[in-house]
Amino acid sequence: MIDVEAARKVLRANDRGGHTVPTDGLYPFAWSWDSAITALGWLTFDEARAWDECHTMFSGQWDNGMVPHILFHGGNAESYFPGPDVWGSNTAIPSSAISQPPVWATAIRMMAERAQDRALAESALAKLMPQLIAYHDWWYNDRDRADTGLVRSYHPWESGMDNSPAWDTPLMRVPEVEWEYQRRDLGHVDQDQRPHKPEYDRYLYLVDFYKKNGFDSDIIYNECPYRVVDIGIVAILQRATKDLVVLCRQTGHHAAAERMEGEIDRTQSAIDKLWSPGHRCFFNYDLVADEPLEEVTTGTVLPLFGGLAGEQQAADMAKLLDEWIDASPFAVASTHPSSPRYEPQRYWRGPIWLHINWMLALGLRDYGYDDVADRVNGATRACVDASGFFEYFDAESGAGCGGGDFSWTAAVALYWLAD
Ligand code: GLC
Repeated sequence: MIDVEAARKVLRANDRGGHTVPTDGLYPFAWSWDSAITALGWLTFDEARAWDECHTMFSGQWDNGMVPHILFHGGNAESYFPGPDVWGSNTAIPSSAISQPPVWATAIRMMAERAQDRALAESALAKLMPQLIAYHDWWYNDRDRADTGLVRSYHPWESGMDNSPAWDTPLMRVPEVEWEYQRRDLGHVDQDQRPHKPEYDRYLYLVDFYKKNGFDSDIIYNECPYRVVDIGIVAILQRATKDLVVLCRQTGHHAAAERMEGEIDRTQSAIDKLWSPGHRCFFNYDLVADEPLEEVTTGTVLPLFGGLAGEQQAADMAKLLDEWIDASPFAVASTHPSSPRYEPQRYWRGPIWLHINWMLALGLRDYGYDDVADRVNGATRACVDASGFFEYFDAESGAGCGGGDFSWTAAVALYWLAD
């Protein structure tokens, strides 16, 4: 049984007025996909607060349409690294210079459909629609200039799956920063649950690279030393764009709806080149080396969520997931347990995140694999039962890892598990 009151308490405790921090201490600002998921949690008991979560994040939207992955507003800039000075983005509300998996339109459509206060929902939508459209246009225009159907990504942090082994090869090609810095994450969480220094040095090199090049989209598109097609982003964008089309039709944004339908088709036509029949999943793609990144992670089965898989591909992925659930005591491990790079408790190299399970279950249901979706749901409950509302969960022991009292974990429990 989900302790609904305890889950609500987590959101209230992390509420900083208009935005919810992912967890106190470790993440003291607003993160984009966290906020989208967290808004769904708020919706179950405070609709006005849920819509505010959206408005706050979009208040930091860049002029070019990008919604940054971190909005440094409220909070003490000194308490987080890399903070606004390191990013140097110079925007009205300081922010990072990359985005995050674009789950917003999906969350907002769900909110619009479930909201009881119709007048409030309509006025919120009236404000959000142009912002959502600009955000999706930005992905397709800025991140897929050659109209390949596959948007590109410039930082492992943009994937939201920061330390996934899928990024090891392209990241290690990036030079290291040469300046000294003091990480803040290690003051909150054990070193064995967080990324290593060689990775961090490269994360920071990329942050410097954008700043050094004045955030110039052309330069970054062509020259960023890290350029990948992130299948998780592609899949989440695809579902979100479909949701956006529905919202556009409902609100009279017909030209945008048509444009988005074109993008949906383009992505659908391009997706098969990422399919690996032998591995029964879609791979990420390294655009610099021009080769697939052959690592089976939860991101590589998210095309189920995006509705991008054909019938046979969906059947293969459902089977893969069914076996994957059996491969570790707690599930779904973010990196497949058969991988030599699987680490059950290190950031995105094995542990379980609840919002990813939720997306997988939704995708499985869409394709009619209710039995596997039920197993994912059961596995997700087992994590919460074992350890409560942690950031993520050890795939071997179910122990809570990372930050405690975590917003998106509580939100998924409220919106999905307690439903
Ligand atoms: C980490 C996660 C990312 C999340 C952020 C805040 O950076 O990898 O997905 O958005 O923490 O929770």
